Parts: sequence; C-alpha cells; structure tokens
Amino acid sequence: MSLAGKPLDLVVVGLGYVGLPLAQEACHSGLRVTGLDVDPAVITGLRERRSHVDDLSDADVEVMLAAGFTATTDVTVIAQAETVVICVPTPLADDGRPDLGPVLSATGTLVEQLTAGTLVVLESTTYPGTTEEVLRPLLEQHGLRVGTDVFLAFSPERIDPGNPTYGFRNTPKVVGGSTPACSERAVAFYRTIVDEVVEARGTREAEMAKLLENTYRHVNIALVNEMVRFCHELDIDLWDVIRCAATKPFGFQAFYPGPGVGGHCIPIDPNYLSYQVQAALGYPFRFVELAQEINNGMPSYVVHRIQDALNETAKPLRGSTVLLMGVTYKADISDQRESPAAPIAQKLSAQGASLSFHDPYVPSWSIGGLELDRVTDLEEAVTKADITVLLQSHSDYDLDALGRLSPLLLDTRGAMPDLPTVERL
Ligand SMILES: NC(=O)c1ccc[n+]([C@@H]2O[C@H](COP(=O)([O-])OP(=O)(O)OC[C@H]3O[C@@H](n4cnc5c(N)ncnc54)[C@H](O)[C@@H]3O)[C@@H](O)[C@H]2O)c1
Repeated sequence: MSLAGKPLDLVVVGLGYVGLPLAQEACHSGLRVTGLDVDPAVITGLRERRSHVDDLSDADVEVMLAAGFTATTDVTVIAQAETVVICVPTPLADDGRPDLGPVLSATGTLVEQLTAGTLVVLESTTYPGTTEEVLRPLLEQHGLRVGTDVFLAFSPERIDPGNPTYGFRNTPKVVGGSTPACSERAVAFYRTIVDEVVEARGTREAEMAKLLENTYRHVNIALVNEMVRFCHELDIDLWDVIRCAATKPFGFQAFYPGPGVGGHCIPIDPNYLSYQVQAALGYPFRFVELAQEINNGMPSYVVHRIQDALNETAKPLRGSTVLLMGVTYKADISDQRESPAAPIAQKLSAQGASLSFHDPYVPSWSIGGLELDRVTDLEEAVTKADITVLLQSHSDYDLDALGRLSPLLLDTRGAMPDLPTVERL
C-alpha cells in the first residue's frame, strides 16, 4: 500500500542492522522509501549496491534500488515523508550511562525539516520515557502539536541477525503512540509492512516491552552461566541437564551457557533500564546487576578453564599456542560487537599465550592494537595448537572431525562430540 500526499512514504534515519531491514521490507511492500544516514561511506556503499549488514546481501540491495529505494545524507528528504522512523544507535557512554547523543542529533535534524502530518517513530532501544519526555518536547518546540499536527510513537525493533525463520515481516511488531491518534497512525503504517501489529497502551509500555525481552534473556543466560561453574565442579553435564529439562512441554525455556554475552541487546540494553531505575527511583535493579556481574565474569572463567586444561597436560599458559575458533558474538554472522572473544583474547595475550584465530566470517581481527594471526588451514592448526577453544560454533565447522584432530579442546558451546580430549565448559 502506498500512502498518498507526500512524495515519500518512508524515510528511515540510520541505515544499520535495524534500519536497513526495515527499509528493505518497506520497499518490498511497495512503499516509496529513502534511507538517510550521517555516514557517507554507508550511503556510497548502498548506492554502489553493497550491503554492510549480515541480513542483507548485495543482491538484496540491488533489488531495493530497482524498487526505487534511494540512500542519502541530505536531511531535506524528511520534509517529503509521510513517516520517518529513527533507527540510530543507542550506546553507553564511558561512565556506563545511556548515550542518547545519536537520538538527540537525529531528532534535532528531523525537527528542522518536519512538516505537518508526519508520523515520527523511534525504534532505537532506550529507557522508558524517552519518547514522551525527550522526543515530544523537541517535536513541539516550533509550535506543532503531537497528536494533531504531527504524530509520535515508539516501536521496538526485534531484528535478530542471522535468524533464518523470523525476519521483519513475520515478527509481530509492538507499537505505542503518544496519543490515541498517534497510535492509530503508527499501527496503520506498520500494518503495511508486518503481518501482526500489537498495540501497547502507550510509548512507555512499548519501550519497556523491549527492555523486558532483553533483560529476560540476560538473566536467564546468567542463570545457566552461574550453574555451569558449579556443575563442572560437581561433574554434571549442564547441556545434558538442559536437554532433559527442555522436554517439559510447559513452563521451561532453554537457555545455554557460553563464554559471555555479545551483540547489543544483552550486554548494553538492560543498562538503560537499570540506569533509569536507579536515577529515577534511587534503588538498584538487582537482577540486571547480578546478571551483568555473572555474564561479564565468563571471559575470565574461560581463561581459567584454558589454564586448568593446559595444566593437566603439564603446560603453562605462557608460551602455549592457543587457537580461538569463532570470534563473532553469534553463530553464522560476521558481527563482532561486544563479542566475549575480545576480552578472552586480551586476557590470554596478557598472560603470554601465543594466539591465533579462525572464523569464516572474519577476515582479520585485532584486539587492542594487537593483530591476531588468522589461520587458513583450520584442520592443520587444530592439530598443532596446544589447545583449541571453540567460542562460536558456526555451522560451517565440521565439529566432529575437528574434535578428533585436536589434542586438547575446550568447548564453550556444548557443541563438540564427547571425546576424552574435548573438555566442556
Ligand atoms: N543490531 C541489532 O541486532 C539490534 C538488536 C536490538 C536492538 N537494536 C537497537 O537498534 C538501534 C540501532 O542499532 P543498529 O544495530 O541498527 O545500529 P548500527 O550501528 O548498525 O546502525 C546505526 C546507523 O545509524 C547511523 N547514524 C548514527 N547517527 C545518526 C544520525 N544522527 N542521523 C542519521 N544516521 C545516523 C550510523 O551511521 C549507522 O549507519 C539501537 O538502539 C540498538 O540498541 C539493535
């Protein structure tokens, strides 16, 4: 469906992991779409039919361009749009506080170009109250009224990079408007590009829904990460425990231990909530703090386990050759943001280990200025390394064969075959 009135149905502000799949689905649904980004390299790449995110191939970008998609750094396109969706990053500042800089800068630009009738939606993950308390006053500063002249809503993005089953269209979309008229506009917009739209009571509920989803995963991953340590001491295979528990058809969802948490949703987003609870109410959000403590401690625990495993073969960590297999934060994608492989490599290097890595998705990898050797012949490297550490079980890996070749392997994913030379976390 194409909305009439203005030359563009949609301007997506911020063309990253979230904005580009949104633009793609909107193009696919027949909308007239422009992407706006501050990074000229992103725009040039897209214009030259190059995708910079895992979920879109170069061919996908070509299809978008053929469908009329344009990419630009020119902010005046905002004035021509029925709907503007903001998908810019929401990082943490150095002191751990939410950094709304990109959201404020994108909104500041938008306000200067905003024309009556436009729907503005924030998709960036943020603390509850941002849409109402930060964006709304900015939108209204030149006399436009939200709910009558312009429309404002929050809709958390739910992009799961690399997920082969759930993409943009078949993942239900939560939408909360500033006013009933705003909700109505936002729901109508998203119904053109997703199968199911779920209306929240307001913007705060929509903002909080995203943080609940992320915190739920953070806490449950921390639960199994804490359990994996004492299960090791008790000689219990936690992966087998989870396999058994997961046969219960109700009341249980499986989460798996690992070397730490990566990406944006788990290590970063819950901080937005704990910060706001502390700042607004003066008390801590204890579940998030505990989950952080446990999950952030996993890289050190992995290093201890590497040391222990080497010790069993009478080798010190200093001078031993350690091969890290899979350094991205998730399997089968190239995204390395917040990957626990980085602190693990740093700690190993600081203790004198001789490091190399392999990852089919990462052509070169440097950590804190240190460029690691990338092995090309994985089978040979696994045979020669004093210890191999499986950090990410990409489906390209023949784990059975690699497990058999390795003289010593630490499996942090519970994915390797059961062999005397393979140790599980
Ligand atoms: N990537 C994910 O899997 C994921 C998952 C959950 C939530 N999120 C949330 O989605 C939001 C966006 O994340 P992302 O992963 O797409 O980020 P990203 O870094 O992949 O892309 C953001 C893009 O926005 C651009 N940008 C920055 N400031 C801008 C501005 N003022 N105007 C225009 N463009 C600007 C950047 O150049 C970049 O291209 C964040 O709030 C993040 O927390 C992302």
